[in-house]
Amino acid sequence: MSSRGASHSRPIPRTAEHARPDHFLLHLSDTHLLPAGGKLYDSVAPERTLSRIFADLEASGTHPEAIVFTGDLADHGDADAYRLLRGIVEPAAARLGAEVIWCMGNHDDRRTFRRELFGQLGSTRPVDRVYDVNGLRVITLDTSVPGEHWGALSGAQLDWLAEELATRAPHGTVLAMHHPPLPCIQDLAVLVELRDQAELREVVEGSDIRAILAGHVHFSTSGTFAGVPVSVASATCYTQDLTTEARGTRPQDGAQSYNLVHVFDEMVLNSVVPITAGRTLSTTSAADSAAVLAAHGVTVPARRNEPLEAVRRPDRIDRELEAMTSPITLPRRSE
Ligand SMILES: [Fe+2]
Ligand SMILES: [Fe+2]
Repeated sequence: MSSRGASHSRPIPRTAEHARPDHFLLHLSDTHLLPAGGKLYDSVAPERTLSRIFADLEASGTHPEAIVFTGDLADHGDADAYRLLRGIVEPAAARLGAEVIWCMGNHDDRRTFRRELFGQLGSTRPVDRVYDVNGLRVITLDTSVPGEHWGALSGAQLDWLAEELATRAPHGTVLAMHHPPLPCIQDLAVLVELRDQAELREVVEGSDIRAILAGHVHFSTSGTFAGVPVSVASATCYTQDLTTEARGTRPQDGAQSYNLVHVFDEMVLNSVVPITAGRTLSTTSAADSAAVLAAHGVTVPARRNEPLEAVRRPDRIDRELEAMTSPITLPRRSE
């Protein structure tokens, strides 16, 4: 960054090219937690990086509206792993003032996921949900297939999605799903890719979906699907080393990261935050930055769309939740 122009005694007033974002989310993926003490590849403690991320976030003073986790939350779908996850994430998210949005992945177990993360009765039905984040709709779509690692969406899920999208959200929609609807650059990934993507394309096209957030491949990548930008967050546990033989696969303990998602009036911006202990070279505080902008006569316009109070709708999810958590009357046993 340059401070050219600072020497002008009377800077020419200028307005920044873009206004402040309307929404700010965090996007994390593939935590692959095990019960406490468990190691991936006999050497990686998956909760270590996750704990560090939340310690860093709390120290930074950042205030995301929501934290979206795009699946593979527990490596084997263990109840203890989900409890460990909640123990790390939920208290920190509460202090940050952020809503937590969980999405299913192929390593997750639908029954345990429902029970441990939502307090619902276990069910093998897909976990598809809708969230209203201050006017921005976030839909989580369950691309997992029980017992398999490849992804798929049933006709019923696609119908449900189309029906939900039939009503446009005030600030548009972000679709969160584990398996990305993108080409694979590692051959083994083809075995576990999202199948029948053309059917999803039909539903996404022409909808108010502004961005798709995904995970699964354990490296940061991006592309487009049906004209919609797709951002894949790397994993917080271990990542794929892409400096290997073309089309080969080599997992590594390093280069973990997560993404910042800034939702502007005209676009969705994804920024990768690597989890590395970089040496600080210089620091300019937010207050000092504002003072420098003011000295240069630069104004950044306020967000275009004001946050809307989340509306709790008596929709299918609430009804489903009610039905699933109602006490069950068992028939009287005859002795
Ligand atoms: Fe994963
Ligand atoms: Fe996965």
